[in-house]
Amino acid sequence: MPTSSRPFERQRQGLSTYLIAWVDGIPIGRGEILWQGCAAPEVSQRYPQCPELNGVEVWPAERRPQGIGTAIIGVAEACAHVRGYHQIGLGVTDDNPRAAALYQRLGYHDAGCRCVDRYHYLDDYGRRHYIADLARFLIKQLQVQGLDLGIATDRFYRVSSTYPIRLVGSRAAMGPDVGPLLADHWGQTI
Ligand SMILES: CC(C)(COP(=O)(O)OP(=O)(O)OC[C@H]1O[C@@H](n2cnc3c(N)ncnc32)[C@H](O)[C@@H]1OP(=O)(O)O)[C@@H](O)C(=O)NCCC(=O)NCCS
Repeated sequence: MPTSSRPFERQRQGLSTYLIAWVDGIPIGRGEILWQGCAAPEVSQRYPQCPELNGVEVWPAERRPQGIGTAIIGVAEACAHVRGYHQIGLGVTDDNPRAAALYQRLGYHDAGCRCVDRYHYLDDYGRRHYIADLARFLIKQLQVQGLDLGIATDRFYRVSSTYPIRLVGSRAAMGPDVGPLLADHWGQTI
């Protein structure tokens, strides 16, 4: 999975929590919770107490759509809830209606601000590319009952983070496929 050292550095400084979804020991999905919120002033001034889930990606593409992205988002919401936040947001670019549809299905709504999503990456030849995409900021009010680990999906993916998540809530609500995997960690901190 393509990534860079910057998220790990941010996490080391306590600025973010980096989530990784694993299948059979292979990382196949990621997302980063930026605890200080969206970097774009258009958003941070209006929503100062709103962490942002950034860079959600499932890779390779054959791993989509199997519920992994939903699981990552669920864990991010649980992390934010555990830290005492009542909302979490994310930016979605105008050219990504399918991701926007997923977020809306998961309870995110348009926060009414547009922002420019700026990022850069190194290509295979070591060249750095600077990107600026127009995006909408979406927000979700968190009313997590226990732990919402991608419960809406029909499979459970273990998503790890360095921030401890305690598994609580109704086992029955998780469904039969989720139960056995989750049972290994029930009541523990992962
Ligand atoms: C968006 C993304 C993280 C969703 O992860 P996922 O594991 O495929 O999502 P889930 O299986 O939990 O949910 C599936 C839904 O994701 C949405 N989706 C968005 N982009 C998708 C894509 N490229 N392929 C498949 N599904 C996608 C769809 O709404 C899909 O539901 P549908 O099949 O009914 O249309 C993933 O598709 C991805 O990595 N896309 C490329 C990177 C990206 O666009 N990231 C979002 C940045 S805002």
